[in-house]
Amino acid sequence: MIHKFGVRSVGLGHPYMDKFVIRGGNPLLGTVRISGAKNAALPAMAAALLTEEPVILENVPQVRDIETERKLLAAMGAEVELGYGRAQHRTTICCRNLVNPEASYELVKTMRASTLVLGALVARMKHARVSLPGGCAIGARPIDLHLKGLERLGARIWQEHGYIEARAERLKGARVVFEKITVTGTEDLMMAATLAEGETILENCAREPEVGDLATLLNKMGAKIEGAGTHTIRVQGVEKLHGARHRIIPDRIEAGTFIVAAALTGGDLLVSGCDPRHLGALLQKLEECGVRVQTNGDSVRVTGDGPLRAADMVTEEYPGFPTDMQAQFMALATQAEGVSIVTENIFENRFMHAQELVRMGANIRIEGARAVVRGQTPLSGAAVQASDLRASASLVLAALVAEGETIIDRVYHIDRGYERIEEKLRGVGAQIRRIGEFLPKRVATPVAAG
Ligand code: UD1
Repeated sequence: MIHKFGVRSVGLGHPYMDKFVIRGGNPLLGTVRISGAKNAALPAMAAALLTEEPVILENVPQVRDIETERKLLAAMGAEVELGYGRAQHRTTICCRNLVNPEASYELVKTMRASTLVLGALVARMKHARVSLPGGCAIGARPIDLHLKGLERLGARIWQEHGYIEARAERLKGARVVFEKITVTGTEDLMMAATLAEGETILENCAREPEVGDLATLLNKMGAKIEGAGTHTIRVQGVEKLHGARHRIIPDRIEAGTFIVAAALTGGDLLVSGCDPRHLGALLQKLEECGVRVQTNGDSVRVTGDGPLRAADMVTEEYPGFPTDMQAQFMALATQAEGVSIVTENIFENRFMHAQELVRMGANIRIEGARAVVRGQTPLSGAAVQASDLRASASLVLAALVAEGETIIDRVYHIDRGYERIEEKLRGVGAQIRRIGEFLPKRVATPVAAG
């Protein structure tokens, strides 16, 4: 059944009250199924703004960031329909009657990726008003490259009352060279260029699989994009885009998190429904650490039956080691024999998890963009706080091997990007439960969007 205009609660209870209680010691055994990629679904939903016709997305994960984007689109006048039952991961978005091309501060502050609507709104509505994201737990995350790119396409951009305003009668194709590789910047500009007059050449683009997935969707909608997945993307502007149906790629970061969890706990886990081609750098690093990894079609089997060895790791743009797996890798490094040097090259201030891991018994020293992790130190359960999405995941992993009970506060961070993580972990043997003032509801309830 489909509920029109509905934004469905994903049944996570009150986000601020929930905690995870985890008792460590169990190896992860069995099979876990991976959800669709949040970071591919977010731009795909924004792409629906480019057409009057419905865009049907399959394999959309039920996580809080997706709910935020549904609210964002609904506030602009979009009709967002959600599948139920067997079709619960399907979302249909129709942007026929857009009334308000604005992303409000209330929504942007909870999810920076809201700025992904900028390019699509200017291209379709000739006008966008998007709140500046403001501070962020993992360092300054400016959107200057999105704005410079849109200016190159002829948009007039100014700032007023904390909002970015952008206007253009019709965008014009141009050559845009990104000074720095940016994932959502590449996606934003690619969307804007689809409806621009003439050809746009984007250079120094992000090559993440999520960029490729967005290009596939846009091409299904009638766009003319070539080169997504390489450094240079060419977009031939068209007058109009139409509706399409698209299946979102699997979440490589969720897959990676379960793979590391299996390695860390000495488990034997089949991670199914993922795309091993997107996991190359991680799997190679884990093999260096002594983890046995076998890929087969859309699954990865991880066997952590030997001792873990330390390894240095540097985060890089795709196809390098993803920054979104850095915190989880650090949890693993605390249990590896020897010294691992973890270098964070993409974001400043993305070591918030290190101090919490130290509170659990890890030996980690931060030196600027490097973390020196001395393993193997036994971890013991403690009360810890999640600070951002992936940092929270690393605390869950550490708790799975800690002696005794760990209580993780502020799990709303983890709910932003992991679908039912505690149920999935419990399904493969972990002792984890969610506690909160309002317990998670199993039955989804449709509520009015807006
Ligand atoms: C995306 C991902 C996020 C991931 C990140 C890096 C989504 C929704 N989020 O975030 O999970 O951690 O890629 O893989 O896909 N920068 C600028 N100016 C800009 C834009 C970016 O200086 O206008 C800088 C950032 O501060 C950062 C670097 O570029 O240092 C890369 O950031 P970017 O790739 O843009 O990250 P996001 O797209 O926000």
